Order: sequence, then C-alpha cells, then structure tokens
Amino acid sequence: MRTVRPFTAKDSVVDLIDSDYNVLTVLSRFSLPLGFGDKTIGELCEESGINAEAFLLIINFLLSGKIDNSCLKNVSPVDIIYFLHNSHEYYLLYKLPHIRTNLINALDEVHDNINPIIMRFFDDYVDLVRKHFNYEENIVFPYVRNLTEGIPGDYTIDVFRRSHDDEIEEKLAELKNIILRYYSTSKPFKMYDALADIYNCEEDLTSHANIENQILIPLIAQIEKRKQIL
Ligand SMILES: [Fe+2]
Ligand SMILES: [Fe+2]
Repeated sequence: MRTVRPFTAKDSVVDLIDSDYNVLTVLSRFSLPLGFGDKTIGELCEESGINAEAFLLIINFLLSGKIDNSCLKNVSPVDIIYFLHNSHEYYLLYKLPHIRTNLINALDEVHDNINPIIMRFFDDYVDLVRKHFNYEENIVFPYVRNLTEGIPGDYTIDVFRRSHDDEIEEKLAELKNIILRYYSTSKPFKMYDALADIYNCEEDLTSHANIENQILIPLIAQIEKRKQIL
C-alpha cells in the first residue's frame, strides 16, 4: 500500500494508473473510458458525470487503507452504490465466467475423478457470491436509495453490518486447497494462470467488502443517526 499523499482531482489520470495499476479495475467499474490524454482526475470525472469526491474516496481508500473524512461529507451513498453495483455486474457477468473457462481449460484428463469436484466447488462458490450480491441488490441498495430520498423503511444498516460475513472467502479457500494440495499436472501453465486469477479475484472481492464495511455502512449509519435526531 502507498504511504505517499492521497490523490486529488488535480492529479493526472495517467500518473494515478502508473502509481498502481490495480486502480484500473476501479476506473472500469466507474465506466470511465480509456484515451485519457493529459486529463486530470477532476476533468475525467466531470466529463463522465461521476462525482470526483466519491471516485477519490474509493481510490485513496484502496491505495492507502485510509478513509479521507473530509471527502466523506461530500459523497452521496448513491455514488458508492453505483460503484458497488457495477462491481457486482463485473464479477458475475465477466470475471467469474472468465475464470471458469480458464479453469476448465486447465483441467487434466488424467484427473477424471477430481475434475468434477473442482468444478462443483467453483460453481458452489459462484452461487454463494450470487446469493450475497442478490441480497445487497434487492434489500440493501433499495433501502439506501430510499433513505437518501427520505422514504422511510423498516430496515436498518445495522442488520446488514451484522450479517455481512466472510462465507464467500471460506469457500474459495477450500477450492484453492484442493488444487494446491492434490492437483499435480504435467502441463501446469494453464492451472497456474487459473490459480493466479482466483487469488486475484479473492483479493479484489475482499477490497469490495471493505468498501461496503468501511465506507457504505458508516455513511448510512450517519444518515440514520441524523434522521433520528431531527
Ligand atoms: Fe457487494
Ligand atoms: Fe458484500
């Protein structure tokens, strides 16, 4: 993680990417187009109709692990949800199917007995991810949207805080364990690639959960508290 100063709207987009290419996934999930030229982060966000404060809050949090409280008050939870929703689509429609295809291609016929087990573990894992995202899409996000529009509901963000578990990561650990411990293959390149993809996706999903736990939940808890006082 970086220890240098946080990025601001005046920094160049290319410098941001050069500093840590992991930010590319964030740019893709804000649907920001490529072809940046000399644009600053502020210019790019403005042209694309993205709240620059929300973008910087997420970027700086992912790069440093720290939350910029001065940004927090200017960010609407709806902007955070936009990013989280796009991330859900990215995993379910692109990343996980891509890993599944690579995993199938990496399987070795000599392991006929273990191959179906590996694929079952992977598919069970994707089912869990889908279930987890569905809850957020159908219960949490509509509640957040209503709350910001002043429409009352009987849900509270504390219910989400208590139920937001790491069941997903545990399932993935089992899959990695089977491959690492029991899958010897004479053509390992593809399987090493598939494994690297799985580790990458795991790290990415942990960051995703951190944004929900450390940005979205506190932001909503603040709004709920303010509404109680009024
Ligand atoms: Fe999520
Ligand atoms: Fe989540």
